[in-house]
Amino acid sequence: MQIKSAEFVVSNQDVAKCPNNNLPEYAFIGRSNVGKSSLINMLTNRKSLAKTSGKPGKTQLINHFIINKNWYLVDLPGYGYARVSKSEKKVFQKFITSYFEKRKQLVSAFVLVDIRHKPQPIDTQFMEWLGENMIPFSIIFTKADKLKPKAIENYINDYKEIMLETWEEMPNYFITSSSKHIGKDELLNYIETINNDLNANA
Ligand code: GTP
Ligand code: MG
Repeated sequence: MQIKSAEFVVSNQDVAKCPNNNLPEYAFIGRSNVGKSSLINMLTNRKSLAKTSGKPGKTQLINHFIINKNWYLVDLPGYGYARVSKSEKKVFQKFITSYFEKRKQLVSAFVLVDIRHKPQPIDTQFMEWLGENMIPFSIIFTKADKLKPKAIENYINDYKEIMLETWEEMPNYFITSSSKHIGKDELLNYIETINNDLNANA
């Protein structure tokens, strides 16, 4: 898929205030600093469409970006950010949870996982929660530039093994690097295929 346009639409903390039309959307979720915002910039060929930072906790709101004027990418705050207070964390979790529970336009979530870290309960539990709530998702392994090909292969095999303790099959997954532009075509083609299916069935 060619990205012809990518524009910021709105940021908010309230799922009821998200764009009110029926265009399909895809949301990026995962731990703070995993590279959600960077991946949105990589996919859209824009340096700072989504705000990124070396410090965790940069994205604080639900951010909608409209792509090719007919679908949305959604950048969400990271979970597992330790430096916010407990009460802030609760508000945080609540609006993210209600985004996933209530957002009918959400076609699929992408759960981002840093390819250097062993499976973390916070990620695997979140995936289980998505499964229980019948929310489709794929895994996106990020920062693949940090490992050599053999190490990536080993890492994926280990990750699969852990996932198969809970899941019947390994969920759909992608290997990406925003700094090296790895995985871009695969992800965009995947989204394009789903969008085409949705249009065909509309
Ligand atoms: P929050 O908004 O805080 O939840 O973080 P985020 O998941 O949006 O992460 P962000 O895109 O802001 O990136 C966090 C840090 O990781 C930044 O310093 C990025 O430059 C770095 N980063 C992101 N993607 C990659 C990548 O593919 N490779 C490498 N080496 N660094 C990356
Ligand atoms: Mg971010």
